[in-house]
Amino acid sequence: MAAKVLITYATKHGATKGIAQAAGSMLHSCGHRVRILPAPVVQDARDADVVLIGSAIYHEQWLWDARRLIRRVRGDLRGGPAVWLFSSGPLGGTPEADAVVAETTGLDRDLPDCLDGTLRGVDVRGHAVFAGRLEPRVAAELETWVPHGDWRDMALVRDWARAVGGAPAVPRLNEFPLPEPGWGLSLGRV
Ligand SMILES: Cc1cc2nc3c(=O)[nH]c(=O)nc-3n(C[C@H](O)[C@H](O)[C@H](O)COP(=O)(O)O)c2cc1C
Repeated sequence: MAAKVLITYATKHGATKGIAQAAGSMLHSCGHRVRILPAPVVQDARDADVVLIGSAIYHEQWLWDARRLIRRVRGDLRGGPAVWLFSSGPLGGTPEADAVVAETTGLDRDLPDCLDGTLRGVDVRGHAVFAGRLEPRVAAELETWVPHGDWRDMALVRDWARAVGGAPAVPRLNEFPLPEPGWGLSLGRV
């Protein structure tokens, strides 16, 4: 049965948007109605059956846009849609960094510590951590040398989206038997 899926993300350089789009494409191809929006433009989550919220990680923190979004729509998320989180962060490029990517990424990770005070009362179904991307121009601006590259595993992202789309107990499904304007696969802009 088709669910309304809201995917919202916070990004500085677009890698997290790419993850949101890959997840959205998979959910759309599974028959769900998907809307993908940058976190700052989302004012409520009332209509959604499933909400995916993602952020890039900088200095061990989720971006402020994503944390502010959760605070803004927290009331809608409590007891309403199925809520899933995803982080885009760990970067490889050296044997040590590749080991960190292997250790820290995956589909069923602890919730980010930085959201302890933000998620109050929101029942989160799961948190996926995906490896990230560092563009050459961003790497060049850093004070220390860091390898640039794209370590995002889009196959893993699609696997996660498929699992999210197939998760049971999505509320209010039967209230939306017909497609409504504005829900299809719409891609937001950063
Ligand atoms: C200055 C800087 C700090 C970062 N800090 C972290 C970090 O603490 N943990 C982590 O996993 N990734 C960290 N990253 C990697 C980013 O999270 C990764 O590049 C991410 O995919 C960027 O997403 P975006 O393009 O959507 O902004 C950092 C990257 C930069 C440039």
